[in-house]
Parts: sequence; C-alpha cells; structure tokens
Amino acid sequence: MTTTEHFDILIIGSGTAGLTLALHMAEQARVAVISKGQLDEGASLYAQGGISVVLDKTDSIQSHIDDTLRAGAGLCNEKAVRYTVEHARENIEWLIDQGVSFTRDGMTAETYHLTQEGGHSHRRIIHSADATGREVETTLLAKARAHANISLFPYHIGIDLITSNKQLKQSPNRALGCYVLDIKNDETKTFLAPVTVLATGGAGKVYLYTSNPDVSTGDGIAMGWRAGCRVANMEFVQFHPTCLFHPKAKSFLISEALRGEGAKLLLADGERFMPRFHPQAELAPRDVVARAIDHEMKRLGDDCVYLDISDKPATFIKSHFPTIYKRCLDYGIDMTREPVPVVPAAHYTCGGIMTDLHGRTDIPGLYAIGETAHTGLHGANRMASNSLLECLVFARAAADDIKQQTLKPVSANIPSWDASQVEPAKEAISITHNWDELRRFMWDYVGIVRSTHRLNKARQRLMLLKQEISDYYAQHHISSDLLELRNLADVAELIISSALMRKESRGLHYILDYPQADNSQPPQETIINPRIQDHAA
Ligand code: FAD
Ligand code: SIN
Repeated sequence: MTTTEHFDILIIGSGTAGLTLALHMAEQARVAVISKGQLDEGASLYAQGGISVVLDKTDSIQSHIDDTLRAGAGLCNEKAVRYTVEHARENIEWLIDQGVSFTRDGMTAETYHLTQEGGHSHRRIIHSADATGREVETTLLAKARAHANISLFPYHIGIDLITSNKQLKQSPNRALGCYVLDIKNDETKTFLAPVTVLATGGAGKVYLYTSNPDVSTGDGIAMGWRAGCRVANMEFVQFHPTCLFHPKAKSFLISEALRGEGAKLLLADGERFMPRFHPQAELAPRDVVARAIDHEMKRLGDDCVYLDISDKPATFIKSHFPTIYKRCLDYGIDMTREPVPVVPAAHYTCGGIMTDLHGRTDIPGLYAIGETAHTGLHGANRMASNSLLECLVFARAAADDIKQQTLKPVSANIPSWDASQVEPAKEAISITHNWDELRRFMWDYVGIVRSTHRLNKARQRLMLLKQEISDYYAQHHISSDLLELRNLADVAELIISSALMRKESRGLHYILDYPQADNSQPPQETIINPRIQDHAA
C-alpha cells in the first residue's frame, strides 16, 4: 500500500521561487512543498550579488528594460521584460516585509546600498552584503515553517508528473500531481493536487564545472518535457566568468559585484585584457567576459586568469564582500593584498519550460516558475541579478492566477507507482560512471565555444548513454542518483538539439561554424515540442 497525499497546491522545489509562491498562497490554500535535499539547499542559498531593481533617482524603468533587452541579444520577449521590471519594486518591498535585511547605504539609514553588475548601465542591485541569497532563502523558509497551511517535505524527490493523458489515458490533458520518492524511507508516494508547480531550479550540474549546487540537475525541465510541455532556448547556458580556481574549492563563485566595485581581470603577467575585447571591459555582458577569458586561457595555455580588487581599501573589501573574503582566506588567498585565481563555470540555464506571464505551462494545472521556466525575460543571455527578480515576480504572478480558480481535490483513481517489475541495483558504478561521462563531454563539446562537429560527437555519446540509462531504469529500483542521471541526460539532449538547431552565434551560444548573428531575419526562439519527435537537426 503506497501513501497518497492530497493538497490544493503541490510545489516541487523550496528555493526562492517555490517558497515565494507558497507564502503568497498559504492564506487560502493547503500547500505542500517538496524538496529533494535539505529545505534550504538550492541555487538561491548561494546567490551573492543581489537583485536588480530601479531605486536610484537617476535610474529608470526604461533603462532597466533597455539593458535587459541589450543583454538578451534580440531574443527577449519584451512583454516579459517590461512586466518583470515594472513589478520589481513591489516584490522587493514584499521581501522587506517578510523580514529580509538588505545592506543600507553607509551615508544614510533610509536608503539601500545599490551595487553595479555587468550589462547594467546604473547602480541597481540591492543586496545583503555578498550573501543575498542566504538572507532571502533563510528568511522565506522561516516564514514557511511557521505557517500552518504549508507542509514541508525535505528529502522528497519528484520522479514524474501525473497527468490525465498518461495515468488515466484521458483527454483533455491536465496535471494531477507527482510521483515522489521519499529518499530517507526509500518509499514511493503519490502526491495529488489540482495545481502542481515546477520550481526545481536550473541544470548547471549537466556540466563538469559549475557554480551550481548538487541539486541543480534540471529535474523540472526534464519532468515537464516528458509530460508534454514545450521547452525553449536550451542552448543558452550562461557561464559565469569568475569562479574560484582552487583544487579544494568546489563551485565557489566570486561575485560579479567585485567587478562592479572596480576589480580588474588580469593575465598571469599582470596584463589587463578586457579592454581589448569590449568597451565596457570587465563590466561587459557575461557572455563576452566568459568568452574572452576562455580565449585568453586557450591562447596562453593557462589554467586560470586573475581578478584583482586589492587597490581598494581592505576595510571596504571586508565589509562589502565578507563571505568571499573569508572563503578565499580559507584557501590561503588574501584578496585585500593579491589577485584571486578565477575560471568560468556553468552558472545559469536561460531556457526552460515555456510559460506565459502567469507561469502557466502547456498543460492545464501545471505551472513553472524560477530558473526552471522560460518566461522570455532573459533571451539569449541573462543579465546579472535578474534571476532572483524573475523568481519573485513570476511566483507572485502565478499565485494571482491560481487565486482566481476553484481548487477541486483530485478525485480520480490514480494508479500507484509500480515497482513490481524491477529489482534492487547490485552496484552503483554504472550510474556514477555515466554521470561523470555525461558532464565531461558536455563540458568539452557543448561548452563556451561550440562547433557542429563537437555537438554531433556529444550527441552520439549521449544516445548511447540514454539507451543504457533507459535499460537500467526499466530494470532497477529507483534512487535519487538514478533519477537525476536520467533527468540530466534529457536536459543534455535538449541543450545539444537546441544548439544544433541554431545556425548562428547569438548571446551565450557561440558556434565556430556560424560565428556571426544572422540578422537577415527576425531572431527566433528555439522551441522543442515533445509531440514532434524529430527535433534534432
Ligand atoms: P533553486 O533555488 O535552485 O531551488 C530549486 C529547489 O528545487 C531546491 O529546493 C531543490 O532541492 C529542489 N528540487 C530540484 N529538483 C527536485 C526534484 N526532482 N524534486 C524535489 N525537489 C527538487 N541570481 C540573481 O538574481 N542574483 C544573484 O546574485 C545570483 N547569484 C548566484 C550565485 C550562485 C553561486 C548561483 C549558483 C546562482 C546565482 N544566481 C543569482 C541565480 C539564482 O540564484 C537562481 O537562478 C535562483 O536562485 C533560482 O531559484 P529557484 O527557486 O528557481 O531554484
Ligand atoms: C554574482 O554575484 O556574480 C551572480 C549574480 C547573478 O548570477 O545574477
């Protein structure tokens, strides 16, 4: 007998997007939030730089919109951009009402300190020193824990969505919930709800080197895609230019805010190289900076470049960047006196499950918000600090939409998860081997600079892996590692297929065979429709 849980809303993921939606809905609905690890674990916890919002008198909504559109290289949905930017301030005020503490301007207690980041033409990043995400995530989580209408399920991993098409063989299609593995008790449960929300974050773990935490395996994108949602713009993977280069530093980011406050990028011989690549130098959009670093490292055969902020007063560095200063010091690097070795790493998934401006997907009853979603805000390149903003704005938009509906409990007779045909796994080596292999060829062949030849090589290897994973999945009990591997393979296929479909370089997608943007026609999103199987070029 398997456990069945009934709620009004099932939210998969407890990052900024998931918790924001839960808190907006909790007064009128019974909300379940499941999370595959500790509740606070996710990209949100590690966000450093901050959240973009127009607060400065010299700044304007139009300027934020223009900067976002410019970074997005012709592929942003202007409606999504305007909607997000215009709703920024009220969402920041909501965070402050929840108790989030942002760094004040040193001069006056009434105003907040605003920092600057790449692509922004003004100072418009509100932040909590250099640990904004931790402040936001822990505050929202404390609020959610205290709310009687919110039930939190840590160490529960969503396996696959339950839909009327698949489980009941009924049309029209509708989302009814999710099959979930309770990891600690090794039990598969059925969660049913008239509204299900994918808030599972991004897919940085598909690459060998990433700033993302281990949970960022693209599960929501893969689950939504398998259930029948269209996915867009998956070729646009953002590589953050500056992650700490140190053998013991697993995925530690050195915030773009350092460059916003004047840090310079240097080669090993001390040469400042960014002015050679872009008039905005270190504050050029992220794709430009990451490619320039990649180019210089390959040209010189170097393992890293260096980020130097040591000409600023030590007190300034320690007060603005306490987390980064301390972490670097732990590795023997004193950033008040010496440059920090850095390399680019996979950071953000611009594409995702296609949604409208209410977070609605192609499947009625299913929403996607946060990094999992493709709202059209980021286009071909996300501008720094627009991501947490997107989580807040679209979680609230989805809540407003859900509040208009009468939430009727799911009464259909849903089959329980069937594990009668599988056996316990005898060894884990094929899962770990396939994880490593996948992330390595994605880094080598589908990374910052691509070519059709490399993409095809990656595709060939992926197809072999997918066959192995599918055979293994059909024969063995599920585990979180196996579920994540299966999802990573689906996401890798979406990235490779999208990259092969785009016959130009644009924004984050740079391909040697087509080094220029094709401006002979209006730029198009790369849309992959699961109902059309032969999407790969
Ligand atoms: P996440 O915060 O990643 O949360 C996803 C949640 O889903 C987690 O709880 C996870 O456990 C859960 N989950 C995943 N799969 C499953 C499953 N199958 N079943 C159950 N639960 C699941 N953006 C900014 O705007 N400003 C910044 O300063 C900034 N700095 C960043 C620094 C770092 C190091 C990183 C990695 C990202 C940064 N970003 C920043 C990007 C931003 O943090 C993320 O895009 C954003 O936090 C995503 O929030 P989310 O709620 O969509 O997902
Ligand atoms: C950073 O602090 O550099 C990350 C900001 C972001 O990803 O938006």
